[in-house]
Amino acid sequence: MPNETYTFVVVGLGHISDNWLPSFQDQSKMFGDERRVDIIAFVDPDKSTWSKPEKYGFGDRPCYQRLEDVWKDDEADATLILTPPQYHLRYIWESVYECTNILTEKPFVTNNNQLKQVRGLFDLIKEQELLCVVNQQYRWAERITAIRKAIDDGEIGDLGFVVSYFNEPDYHFNRWWRQLHEDISAFNWFVHHYDTMRYILHNRKPVEVYGKLIRLPYSKIVGESTAFLNVTFEDDIEWVYTGSQEGRGYKTPGQSMFTIHGSKGMIENPRDGPPILHDINGEEHILGPDLGDAHAPYPDYWHVTLKKFVESLDAGEPVDEDLTTFEDNQWTIVIPLCARESSRFGHKINVESFLESL
Ligand SMILES: NC(=O)c1ccc[n+]([C@@H]2O[C@H](COP(=O)([O-])OP(=O)(O)OC[C@H]3O[C@@H](n4cnc5c(N)ncnc54)[C@H](O)[C@@H]3O)[C@@H](O)[C@H]2O)c1
Repeated sequence: MPNETYTFVVVGLGHISDNWLPSFQDQSKMFGDERRVDIIAFVDPDKSTWSKPEKYGFGDRPCYQRLEDVWKDDEADATLILTPPQYHLRYIWESVYECTNILTEKPFVTNNNQLKQVRGLFDLIKEQELLCVVNQQYRWAERITAIRKAIDDGEIGDLGFVVSYFNEPDYHFNRWWRQLHEDISAFNWFVHHYDTMRYILHNRKPVEVYGKLIRLPYSKIVGESTAFLNVTFEDDIEWVYTGSQEGRGYKTPGQSMFTIHGSKGMIENPRDGPPILHDINGEEHILGPDLGDAHAPYPDYWHVTLKKFVESLDAGEPVDEDLTTFEDNQWTIVIPLCARESSRFGHKINVESFLESL
């Protein structure tokens, strides 16, 4: 019997849809000769985007301005949400009530209220056996999986602390929603680093967050584009993170630079070249090939998320513990939310207490 083909409605036809639609057009990297995913309709309120599906071989699929109108005409196995972050939640609500699985671009929520609402849906999601996943494709980058493997294999012993640095001088912020949300640097970009660090630390949860959010005098946006964070993860692993999108000078890779320190050595994710393991004897070991991806603007791993999503639909449950379901991704998204609370109140935030207070 051939495998099932899952149908999707794609909501949002902007910039990032150009990174998703090629995986629906050519599925060989994911499924060989099989076609396991199809698109039945597109949704974007801006009609000028409706010519885009043609470019990827989906020109005969209907386009709508509202998702609710799709459901009047058809049904689908999944909604793929690619709208500005501020609107993800409304399509999450609509899809859960329509009993439809969800794959959404990060971040799945952008403030405390939205997190409270989505957590309120968790029981319904479970009852309806829906698969709800956030795309965090930075975690699938080969340099990151090589670092995770070295740590899992015990190559640097017991973990102690991590130091990260991200600087993207003069980020463009030139699209409307990127200028108008006070936490957009955190939710649109730093969230990749928060999630990747959780993945490297074997999906450990943050326990406490202390944050200072800074708005530079020459800032182009309404909110803070610089964050200084101190996060304590489970097992007392400490993380110091500095991120900025309006600093000057030195530009770090999009996936950031960091060093991870353990009892038997240290792993360095440098600005250029492959990650390096420095062992306790002072010797250096290259972790994996230099894939030249240190400066990739976006690591091209959307197909990995999509493949895992399909395999999880087949299995009726997440195919592995690394799939970023909503239940898992809440532990990523609490980092920027607690950082905001910490910066506002000037003290450390306990993550469990924060979640209870919502
Ligand atoms: N994973 C990554 O590496 C990565 C990179 C860039 C962007 N993103 C994420 O992708 C999402 C979209 O970003 P983008 O750069 O494509 O933005 P964009 O502004 O280029 O496109 C957004 C599209 O959504 C449409 N839209 C606006 N309001 C809508 C609504 N209410 N309903 C339906 N569609 C609506 C707009 O008309 C536009 O076509 C964001 O969540 C962003 O954080 C992820």
